[in-house]
Amino acid sequence: MLEGLVKDFAEVFGDAHHVRAFFAPGRVNLIGEHTDYNGGHVFPCALSVGTYAIARLRNDREVNVYSKNFPEEGIINFQLDHLVYDEKDKWANYPKGVIREFVKNGYEPNAGLDVLFFGNIPNGAGLSSSASIELVTSVLLKALFRLQVEMVDMVKMSQKAENEFMKVNCGIMDQFSIGMGRANHALLLDCNTLSYTYSPISLKDATLVIGNTNKRRGLADSKYNERRTECEQALKEIQEHHSIQSLGDLTPSQFEEVKHHLSNDVIQRRAKHAVYENDRTKEAVHLLEMGDIKGFGQLMNDSHRSLRDDYEVTGLELDALVEAAWNQQGTIGARMTGAGFGGCTVNLVENAHLDEFLKNVKWQYEEATGLIPEFYTVEIGDGAREMNIG
Ligand code: GLA
Repeated sequence: MLEGLVKDFAEVFGDAHHVRAFFAPGRVNLIGEHTDYNGGHVFPCALSVGTYAIARLRNDREVNVYSKNFPEEGIINFQLDHLVYDEKDKWANYPKGVIREFVKNGYEPNAGLDVLFFGNIPNGAGLSSSASIELVTSVLLKALFRLQVEMVDMVKMSQKAENEFMKVNCGIMDQFSIGMGRANHALLLDCNTLSYTYSPISLKDATLVIGNTNKRRGLADSKYNERRTECEQALKEIQEHHSIQSLGDLTPSQFEEVKHHLSNDVIQRRAKHAVYENDRTKEAVHLLEMGDIKGFGQLMNDSHRSLRDDYEVTGLELDALVEAAWNQQGTIGARMTGAGFGGCTVNLVENAHLDEFLKNVKWQYEEATGLIPEFYTVEIGDGAREMNIG
């Protein structure tokens, strides 16, 4: 793979002298959805697919970026002294936003760059191709400019770039899991304190399968921001009576005691999801660590129902794909993953029933929606890093 990308670099930029290679994965969240910006817990893992970057320094202050995924856009050029969002730079705004955030934090690149990117995460599938390009940019900046910067700070700067430059008000889960991921482990992250632990994922007789609805998210960002606003309102209404910092501070029973303060049913259901999902996530990790895979799967199912009924971020396609999985013998658990409204599901399936699962879920989903789904087996890889070229 890298050898081919280095050749591509030479074709695009003339030669490939002094290039270095970098990689940042995509991520899939196993449980803990829409909890990160509510000060709760998440349990994601990094994937083995992601974004590659072949990069080298220039001796001027120009940045030239090229994506093998968007060859029709050609080389996109911008200046280190003019790091401003520009619609016509399309995808290149992601690396540009990250460079700007580095500069704002005192990590000043002192030369321009040529970079070739290639991503093998399905686009728009909710597996965080955007956080992946942000983190691969971060690790290449650190290496090429010999910056003394910790991964957790690169994670925060990448999230900031997404919030302020790209104007997507995401939480920290995606950037954190992509920066800090570890092969064969998922990461339990407390988004309030950023303390985290790794849990080995060894499923013995089962496999994690990602199902892609092939329904792009479309309006996701506006609804995403709407959910955030609703949760902020719920928090404010509770804070008028109780001193909590975030919805993640409440246990389900504490929530039941304070919920009458919430001004309407919608706000109440949104907050209920945030509180119960946080609790479910901690419980699910505990069960997994005890070897109770069935119990973990049950909580995945509960998570989906809560996202469908209380948080209302699923939609026809995600529900159809999850229901088809639930109908299938050998499905231990199934739920939507990521922001919702489209994108992917994550399924825990007994190996003995995997082939039927893939066949039956495909046709049932196709019949319900007219769309053809895709399935990928989850391989849990390491976080963002430099790669050795040959
Ligand atoms: C998107 C965001 C994350 C998180 C999830 C929902 O992936 O980028 O920060 O909020 O949605 O859990």
